[in-house]
Amino acid sequence: MNKRIGVVTGGGDCPGLNAVIRAVAKAADRRGWEAVGIIGGYDGLLEPPQTLPLDYRALDGLLVRGGTILGTANRGRFSAKTGHGDQRRLPDELLEETRRGMEALGLEALVSIGGDGSLCIAQQLHEYGIPIVGVPKTIDNDVGGTVLTFGFMSAVDCVTQAIDRLHTTAESHSRILVLEVMGRYAGWIALFGGIAGGADVILIPEIPFCFDSLVAKIRDREARGKHFTLVVVAEGAREKGRDFVTSAAQSENREARLGGIGSVVTAELEKRTGKEARCCVLGHLQRGGTPVPFDRALCSMFGTEAIELVAAGDFGKMVGYFGTHVGALPIAQAVAKLKTVPPAGDMAQTARALGVCLGD
Ligand code: F6P
Repeated sequence: MNKRIGVVTGGGDCPGLNAVIRAVAKAADRRGWEAVGIIGGYDGLLEPPQTLPLDYRALDGLLVRGGTILGTANRGRFSAKTGHGDQRRLPDELLEETRRGMEALGLEALVSIGGDGSLCIAQQLHEYGIPIVGVPKTIDNDVGGTVLTFGFMSAVDCVTQAIDRLHTTAESHSRILVLEVMGRYAGWIALFGGIAGGADVILIPEIPFCFDSLVAKIRDREARGKHFTLVVVAEGAREKGRDFVTSAAQSENREARLGGIGSVVTAELEKRTGKEARCCVLGHLQRGGTPVPFDRALCSMFGTEAIELVAAGDFGKMVGYFGTHVGALPIAQAVAKLKTVPPAGDMAQTARALGVCLGD
């Protein structure tokens, strides 16, 4: 039977969104179904609808193309996350408008590609009776129930390359180089990227830090003849007893915008050690550009699996990567709790075993 499937991308963009769109559209095409892109996030479903046909020729080059050809939004009527990640319920009128929008477009199901915010919306749409499946996207890797989200490995690659570059200049000038990376309330990017790049200090939100510990690490390195230090700090890292550092005033129905902890750490280390320190904020470089090969493959698996779920009528599920295979779990389970770094887990222990200072 011919079906029309909608594909929507929500929240911040990240490498691999187009690769998932391609995989969904190709897998749909193989079944003789039609895939339709929804433009500008869930808003594109509302009157007047905004769509993009995803026919075979429209998929050229999507595997490697960064961003999303559909556009995305992480603000406006569909925001389901506010403040420090609190969930918000969408009004019933909006859910009903969405249902009507899908009906008007003749969509039998929706594939929602997004992070925890978009998946929270997906769960609410599912509870309202809209046939939907989710695909976990985010460089932050903080969606529960899946070992990895797509985009994460591409961000880690970007961080690692940045550290490699900072390494040589830090060493040449005998400086402290602080690299602030993204990740919101989770330290996955900082920890994976930091270990991959050989950072000496890695500060993550899950382990509040104290400056004494950082200074001790720098002094120890000096004593061993290492006159430079590489510090990776997650944007959500904070000093013990202090709040998150934000880069913008909180606006209504939006999550707080984190940023600025890198400069705080840089200034304090310079003051306390007397060494020259510089800060580099990697920012949106981590979200741009082509996905790394692992993400391209993961996106392809996720997209095709999403169509399997639609075919089986297994709605309210999110595809996930479980280390050896791709499968599915209830979206409700995935969004119940943010997946943060276990402070005593394998990656943190690896860092400690390498002598990396985690700031505690
Ligand atoms: O969730 C992805 C992410 O890049 C976070 O790591 C970061 O805090 C946030 O989005 C930045 O969002 P924006 O692009 O809206 O400033």
